[in-house]
Amino acid sequence: MTGDEIQEPAFRDQTQYVAPSSLRKRWKRSIGLAHGKTQADLFAETAYEGKSAFSRAKDYLKIQVFQWVGHYLRSRFGPKWPFADYRAYGDDNGIYNLAASTGDPDPDEPVQIALAGDWGSGTEAAFDVGQSVNLGFPHFTIHLGDIYYVGTKKEVQENMLGGRVQWPLGNRGSFALNANHEMYSQGKGYFTHLLPALGFQGDHGQRASFFCLKNEHWLVIGLDTGYYSVGIPILEMIFRPSSKLHSKLMEWLQKDVRLQDDQQRGVILLSHHQYYSQFESGYDRPAQQLAQLLQRPALWFWGHEHRFALYGKNASGKAGLQIYGRNLGHGGLPIEDIADRPRQGQKYQNGLVLYDKRERCRIGALGIPVGFNGYANLTFAGKQLAVEYRDTEQPLVTEKWEVGPGGVLKGIAIDQLIDDDDLVLHKGASLGDAIA
Ligand SMILES: [Fe+2]
Repeated sequence: MTGDEIQEPAFRDQTQYVAPSSLRKRWKRSIGLAHGKTQADLFAETAYEGKSAFSRAKDYLKIQVFQWVGHYLRSRFGPKWPFADYRAYGDDNGIYNLAASTGDPDPDEPVQIALAGDWGSGTEAAFDVGQSVNLGFPHFTIHLGDIYYVGTKKEVQENMLGGRVQWPLGNRGSFALNANHEMYSQGKGYFTHLLPALGFQGDHGQRASFFCLKNEHWLVIGLDTGYYSVGIPILEMIFRPSSKLHSKLMEWLQKDVRLQDDQQRGVILLSHHQYYSQFESGYDRPAQQLAQLLQRPALWFWGHEHRFALYGKNASGKAGLQIYGRNLGHGGLPIEDIADRPRQGQKYQNGLVLYDKRERCRIGALGIPVGFNGYANLTFAGKQLAVEYRDTEQPLVTEKWEVGPGGVLKGIAIDQLIDDDDLVLHKGASLGDAIA
């Protein structure tokens, strides 16, 4: 992809927003990037002298287990950082306008959110994804979590805040979800260093690990499945914690978002951990909790599992909550598992429709094949939502949705934009199953 091929959408007016706070400098820098300053310029300004340009992708390969385990053990022990909520912030209850501009929101004006998962690696692939996100001029950007290796303050600085690579900031706001890797260092780097640098419009930092973007037709809800994704050090790798939603988050969904009373908006859920998967085990506890408040299918984007995959409407485990699953865990790490085959057997069937096993290159001394990194752009316009799934070079799949009566999502269209047998349509599935 070249910059020449990408035109700024006509509806976008980057000059409307002026960040009013101490975050102005950072925000202006991001908006400046969107206006033509390249990520390479930024990188040249901020990269540490004498250090390699990026984290080496091969250092994240699973065969580098000793490096990873050593870092984990040095960071893992200690009390969790306290869970933050909005109760101390008066009018700020973590619910913000999903709108392209300030003032009275016009729900018909298109507003774009870019989503990337598992991006916080500082790799060249993360740099490329960030550059591609910036070229889309998103109003909001949301990281679906995981800052490697363990989300310390130093790693947050290097892998999210410009030390090596700068997380692409939306011109109306940026948010980050909590995840297991952030919690391997008790969440301190995430809560105390990353969140203050993000938030709605740069008015102030992101104050909690959950939030909602809302307009007349849509609810976009960011969830924290990371806080309870860690348990007893080392044992947590074998006996996986539930990743349940914190009671304060559930209370906020009930009393502030009033999710149980909303019968008009389309619901978009965001989390780090997957509710279900056809390649790995899922985490159905958060879905069980949500099913107490939500009785209609949502579109749910998650990361954690390092691949791009689309699922049709499906419920799993004890939850009973039917959702359309979207796996976006391919934001920055080497995508090693492209040779994986979906699990066979009836109990593992979760409505898999499409997954990406294309080989991008081979890395490391062993020449390990890795797949393509990528992300998604969501564009809301009135009752309609268009989602574009991209790698760093091209769009792969687009889909369109509409909110119907009762806030029920209706799939309008889905198209595959590249002809490649390794962008695999799962056996027996048709592409339309992803939105049916
Ligand atoms: Fe993760």
